[in-house]
Amino acid sequence: MERNNNISAEELARQQEFMEKVKDINEEFYNKTGRRKKMHITTFGCQMNAHDSEKLLGMLKNMGYEETDEEKDADFIIYNTCCVRENAENKVYGNLGYLKHQKKENPEMRIALCGCMMQQDVVLQTIKEKYKHVDIVFGTFNLYKLAELMYINMETNAPVFDIWKEHGEIVEDLPTIRHFKYKASVNIMFGCNNFCSYCIVPYVRGRERSRCPQDIINEIKALASDGVKEITLLGQNVNSYGKGLDDEITFAKLLRMVNEIEGIERIRFMTSHPKDLSDELIYAMRDCEKVCNHIHLPFQAGNNDILKKMNRRYTKEHYIGLVEKIRREIPDIALTTDIIVGFPGETAEQVDDTIDVIKKAKFNGAFTFIYSKRTGTPAAIMENQVPEKDAKANFNRVLEALNPIIYDLNCAKVGKVYKVMADDVSSNDESYITGRLEDNSLVHFKGDRSMIGDIFDVKIIDCKTFYLIGERV
Ligand code: SAH
Ligand code: SF4
Ligand code: F3S
Repeated sequence: MERNNNISAEELARQQEFMEKVKDINEEFYNKTGRRKKMHITTFGCQMNAHDSEKLLGMLKNMGYEETDEEKDADFIIYNTCCVRENAENKVYGNLGYLKHQKKENPEMRIALCGCMMQQDVVLQTIKEKYKHVDIVFGTFNLYKLAELMYINMETNAPVFDIWKEHGEIVEDLPTIRHFKYKASVNIMFGCNNFCSYCIVPYVRGRERSRCPQDIINEIKALASDGVKEITLLGQNVNSYGKGLDDEITFAKLLRMVNEIEGIERIRFMTSHPKDLSDELIYAMRDCEKVCNHIHLPFQAGNNDILKKMNRRYTKEHYIGLVEKIRREIPDIALTTDIIVGFPGETAEQVDDTIDVIKKAKFNGAFTFIYSKRTGTPAAIMENQVPEKDAKANFNRVLEALNPIIYDLNCAKVGKVYKVMADDVSSNDESYITGRLEDNSLVHFKGDRSMIGDIFDVKIIDCKTFYLIGERV
């Protein structure tokens, strides 16, 4: 099997050297002051970013930093940013304004920005002009160079900007610190080629490229032997996994391979695009007992003219047909989705089509968004941008249609027993554990920290719109 696309061993070794150099500087600091430097990462955006942050954390720990929960105590601060909607960007600017004061109190503080937002020229310009207290800026394609950029900054004491316009080779084997011990995310591909007209992701994450199946399988095997039971395979559009690789591989085949890995008990993935969700994938989901009975299948809008303007390349009828096919093969599957309301030109009647899809597809959950104009995308210059108050009114109608359906589906679970993986202690009540059913529904049940990472039989005793309440049986 040919290892195309991957970064050279020399470059990785070079980065390793920079990590050592920064570590030495930090060690000197420790010897002088008797304390270890602390770092804090704030992650905005999707699971892709969350997983990148695990890599950043891994590298920083290798460089001798300790993690702190309190940003104000940190010597090194990273914001891993998102730009999918305007409010994600506003939060970053807001926080940065605040950090300016913090840095005055602790001039040793170093601030780094990375992630999707940094791939936009206008953002870089703003940071250079208005946020001069930022020390290091890099993007989505060169995260593996963190140590080198930190070292340059330490040596020169001048801001370092390193943004690549295009992706380089795929980087394997970065040290990673997982947020959870027993569950992990694994990138299977990077980037997106779909260019939905509202979406900035293809511009900031570059073209689609898949990792070699063998690298993915090896990574998952290593995770399994480290105690990981649940794997989430990540890609903006997992259904096109394998395109451009030398191997004859599809996402469905990859799922079947991952299903064979000993120690892995649950396999999840996101995200699927409806336009190329194949029968082969539906059959693989049906046949592989470890693949969870949940699919996240964003439909965005129900009206065919809007779907066309969104460049989604499917129709409302195709989407509903897909849902029926999936339900026929996997009757107990949970279906979740993403919806955008207020795309340019969208009328109240057109939103009725979205509501119609909601009623027909019967979603178990949905992320709903008001359209946010992203400069540089085709939709940003379309006529008839929808006034905020109209978008909000339609958005509320969408929620009114969604919530009772989600609630009823949740309530249908009351009285039944499900396998639940214990995730965490509930943030409201220490005597409760939060966990996930195989279909990804959230459940709270009595328990303690020692149960985290194990799977229990839980009987559902009550239901709310966004979660279930259960008890161990
Ligand atoms: N690749 C994934 C999703 C990536 S972004 C997919 O295609 O399904 C996550 C969600 O953000 C999208 O599904 C969409 O619903 C929403 N989104 C993307 N761009 C947006 C915009 N400009 N305004 C509002 N929501 C947007
Ligand atoms: Fe954005 Fe569409 Fe790509 Fe998803 S598939 S990341 S919505 S362009
Ligand atoms: Fe994810 Fe936001 Fe980037 S949704 S891919 S972090 S723009």
